[in-house]
Amino acid sequence: MSQIRPLSFRLNGVDTSVTVEPRRTVAEMLRSDLRLSGTTVGCEQGSCGSCTVIVDGEPVRACTLFAVQLEGRELRTIEGLARDGSIQALQEAFVEEDAVQCGFCTSGFLVLAAAALESDPFIEDEAIDALVSANLCRCTGYGPIRRAVRKAAKTTRRAT
Ligand code: FES
Ligand code: FES
Repeated sequence: MSQIRPLSFRLNGVDTSVTVEPRRTVAEMLRSDLRLSGTTVGCEQGSCGSCTVIVDGEPVRACTLFAVQLEGRELRTIEGLARDGSIQALQEAFVEEDAVQCGFCTSGFLVLAAAALESDPFIEDEAIDALVSANLCRCTGYGPIRRAVRKAAKTTRRAT
């Protein structure tokens, strides 16, 4: 008997219906089934944050969530955030502050920061530092990422 289950959710603003195996993670579904490869997968155990997506407004590690848990919920990925302009200030700040080196971690940081800035445009610098320390980056030493998120927060505040 097939284990495949139907699943309906909202993906980057679009009602989406797929079929998935119960043990398929959101990260696997995005990359392998939906061909949305902007969500990168590093540790596959919830540690590195490279796979961060936004579910119902909250940042979530896509490797730790089963796709079937998305039923009726809203999922946003780096592709949707880039398309609707939500991360433009962050993208520009990451380039200006040299916060991208190999780039493997970058989409996770952008999604994590976008969720934080949407939730609190007046987020304090100390909270940004704590936020950034939640994800792993092997290249930048974190300083450029912290500066980039702080700069994007200022830009976002001016626009609020
Ligand atoms: S790949 Fe998901 S947290 Fe590392
Ligand atoms: S830029 Fe290489 S891991 Fe962060």
